[in-house]
Order: sequence, then C-alpha cells, then structure tokens
Amino acid sequence: MAFNHIKFHKKMCVSAAIIVLFVAAISVISVFAAETTNKLIINADQGAEKISRNIYGHFSEHLGHCIYGGYWVGEDSPIPNTRGIRNDVVNALRNINIPNLRWPGGCFADEYHWRDGIGPRANRPKMINTHWGGVTEDNSFGTHEFLDLCAQLGTEPVICGNVGSGSVEEMSKWVEYLNFDGVSPMANERRENGHDKAWGVKYWGVGNENWGCGGNMTAEFYADQFKRYATYCRNYGDNRLMKIAGGASEDDYNWTEVLMQKIGPRGMWGISLHHYTTTWRGPKGSATAFDEEDYFITLDRCLKIPKVIDRHITIMDKYDPEKRVALVVDEWGTWFEVEPGTNPGFLYQQNTIRDALVAGIHLNEFNKRCDRIRMANIAQTINVLQSLILIQDEKMLLTPTYHVFEMYKVHQDATLLPTDLQCMDYTFENKTLPSLNVSASKDASGKIHVSVCNLDPKKSAALECDVRGFKPKKVSGRVLTAPAINSHNTFDKPEVVKPADFKDVKLNGSMLTATLPAKSVVVLELE
Ligand code: AHR
Repeated sequence: MAFNHIKFHKKMCVSAAIIVLFVAAISVISVFAAETTNKLIINADQGAEKISRNIYGHFSEHLGHCIYGGYWVGEDSPIPNTRGIRNDVVNALRNINIPNLRWPGGCFADEYHWRDGIGPRANRPKMINTHWGGVTEDNSFGTHEFLDLCAQLGTEPVICGNVGSGSVEEMSKWVEYLNFDGVSPMANERRENGHDKAWGVKYWGVGNENWGCGGNMTAEFYADQFKRYATYCRNYGDNRLMKIAGGASEDDYNWTEVLMQKIGPRGMWGISLHHYTTTWRGPKGSATAFDEEDYFITLDRCLKIPKVIDRHITIMDKYDPEKRVALVVDEWGTWFEVEPGTNPGFLYQQNTIRDALVAGIHLNEFNKRCDRIRMANIAQTINVLQSLILIQDEKMLLTPTYHVFEMYKVHQDATLLPTDLQCMDYTFENKTLPSLNVSASKDASGKIHVSVCNLDPKKSAALECDVRGFKPKKVSGRVLTAPAINSHNTFDKPEVVKPADFKDVKLNGSMLTATLPAKSVVVLELE
C-alpha cells in the first residue's frame, strides 16, 4: 500500500511538473505572440504631402523668465551674449533647426504697444505686465531685439499684433515700420533706430485668444474686427503678409465655423487653435510628482487632441475644400502646476519623459495632418509651460521635450508617408489607450524616418514594420527613454534623460523588427 502510495505520489509530481512546464511554455508563447502583434505598414512609395517645417515652431512670450533671463540678459551681462542675447540658448535652438518663433504673446500681445519697445532703451517707458505676475516690463526687449534674435537663430518671425487694446492705426504702422523700404514716417524712424533695410516679416497674427484675454469678443464681432485690422496691414514690396486669425480654444467649434464663414478662405492665410494638455483632476497636477494614474490621464487627454483637431478641420473643409487656409496650432503643450516656491504668474514647470511623449504624439499627429496643419508653436520655448530649455542664471539645461524636437527635426519639409498601425493596448486598471503612436516621412535625399512613441510605462513593445515600395539597405535609430515616468533633468543632473543610439532593430529585406523600450520615443532612419 505504502509503495503504491509513493508511486502514485511520484506520478502526480511528474504530471504536475509537466503541467507547470506546459503552462509556462504557453505563457511564453502567448507573451511572444502578444508582443509581435504590433504591426506597422509604411507605404514608402505613396507620399504626396510635405510636412511643413513650420509645424516645428515655437512660442515665446513676455511671461516669467522666458524673454528676460531666458533669451535676453543685456549687453553688459557676464553671461556670454551677442548684443544682449544668450549665446548658449541661440546655439541650442539652432541645433534643432527652429523654423519660426511666435512673439510677443499670448495674452501679453493684446496689451503690448510696440512703440514702447523701440528707440534708445533708457528712454523706453515701463509698463505693468498685468497678465503675468503684475511685474514691471521695462520694454528693453522690443521689435529690434526680437528680430535680431530671429536673425541669430536663422528663424522666421511670427508676430502677433494687438487687437484687444490696440488700434487699427497702431497695427498698421507696425507693419509699415517692419516692412516698408521706401521713404515714409515709419520707415524713416526705423532707420533712425539703426535698421536700414526692412525686415520683411511674413507671418502676422491678428490678435490672440480674442474670445478671452484678447478682448472677450464674440466670434461674430472678432470676425469683423479681423477684417478691419487686416485691411490696413499692407503688403510692401514683394513681401506678402500671411495673416493668421485668432482661432478657437480647444473644442469651441462655433468659433472656427463663424470665422471660416465670415472671413472666408481668401481673407486669411491661417486660423489658429490653442489646445493644452493637462491632467484636469481638479488642480492641474504636478509636473514631476505624479503617479501612473496622472500619467495615464495626461496621455489620454493628449490622444483626444487629434480628435478635436479633426473636427475643426472638418469645419474648415466645408468652407475651404481646397485647403487654402492653414490650421495653425500656435499654442500647444502640457500645462501643470508651477514648481513649488515659484511665482504662480510665471508658469514655470519642470519637464519629464511624460512631456517627451506628449511632444512626440503631438508632432506625429501634426505630421499626419500636414495637408491642413502648416504651422504649430509649442508653448513655450524657455522657462514657461512645456519648455525645451530651462535657465537658472548662467546655467542652461535641455529638457526631454528639447530632445524630441532634436530627434524629430528630420521630418521638417520631408514628404509624409502613409502608415497603417495595429498595436496592442496600454492598460491601466480597466482603462486602455493604444500603446504606440507613429508617423513616417521621406526626406529630400530619399531617407525614410519613422518616429514611434511607446506609451506603456512598463512594457516594451515588439514592432514588425513592413516598408512597402522601398528596399532599405541600412537601419539605424535613436531612443529617448528614462528610468521612471517622472524622470527629468535638473541643473545638478542635466543628463538623466537624453537620447542614445538605438540598437534593438533589425532589417530583413523590407521587413524591420524592433523592440521599443517602455515609455520611449524612438526615431528610426532607413537608407
Ligand atoms: O501660454 C500661456 C498663455 O496661454 C498665453 O498667453 C495665452 O494665449 C494662453 O491662454
């Protein structure tokens, strides 16, 4: 009996071991199978639309330490500068091929009077920056300084004029001062102030957020005001002003509808849209002290933005099927609580790998709508909201968002390639998001670039990519990832989050396989 019992027990153990092994094998196979279900098709021979470099544009306002301390330190500063503008900032922005820079606001634009910012600096009047901290604005950074900055950066200026508290005459004279090369009161005054040739500014915003800080107008009233102001913003010489109407906030579709209907496709070059990404759980949430729920909510909100954009585009298509009018997303980015201990009116926030994913997703989604979105401006370049650069006195650091712009610069002016992505979900508790987000383009030299974000904070993603109509000989890549969802760069540790070479990719004919790390942005190059 005892012998039989031992035999029986042994048998049971062997069977249990087999079952355990079998279950383990099945799990390994299913994990492997699940990981290989991310499939991407790139139609490399079908691109038609160009991704405007202006999608990679920036926004800098007289707000907190964006202009003062950020770009401008003045000629007498011990911080290395060229005519008062920081050299380290200029070099960093030149490195990402900054295509355009929007200025002076934002809400500040509609209380800015440009004549206060010209002439000898010592004589310029001071004003209160009522929107942003109630601080004194001494106007030492004005029109000439901004256009010198643009020249040093090699970037297109995008100037936003004052509709809310300025006059038609004031805006009209600013355009004359900037762009007229003959003899006129404004052109003469520009020369007296040291600039002989007209700058030929092209991109012109007619007001900002005129439904709110730019005058609290109705859409109907603003559409009429736009026509009135725009009429007197003249074209001088060969320069053609590309006028941008102050557009909607988020899902205010009526604003877009009214402007498209009343101004019409021939009356404006572009119509703007502002959309920020926040956690919106009561307070906006911390930029660095957050958990996975906040991370999920932020990315969920970010992924809703393309849907909002598409509804605005549908309205534009109704009035403008030829797509003459550009959708200009001239304020976008994350908006969290300010860093503890900083002025609440300065909107200074840190920037983590979560911000990098938000940037990567936005830029992918803008790329994919490049037939309509022809300009976008992240808010804001330095020390404000989703910044690319943070400054502390003489120190400068590059944020994870900066690195995304640097990695994605390969898409600027490239041809968008159609893609088809099937991917697994990123699941948090019982909620899901698509784990991957992608766009692809072919540049003028024939190289293909694929930018992929893996949103899942815990799981890497195996990707199979079929590149149709192209025979790649070589693949290489770069990756931006981080140890934790809130990893960020500080002045003491400025290189916690920075790009590295990406080796986990193989090419087999036109099939490419890669394993994308959790919470990462990867850019692949196919030659
Ligand atoms: O970017 C900060 C502010 O956000 C801008 O001044 C305004 O246009 C928007 O509400």
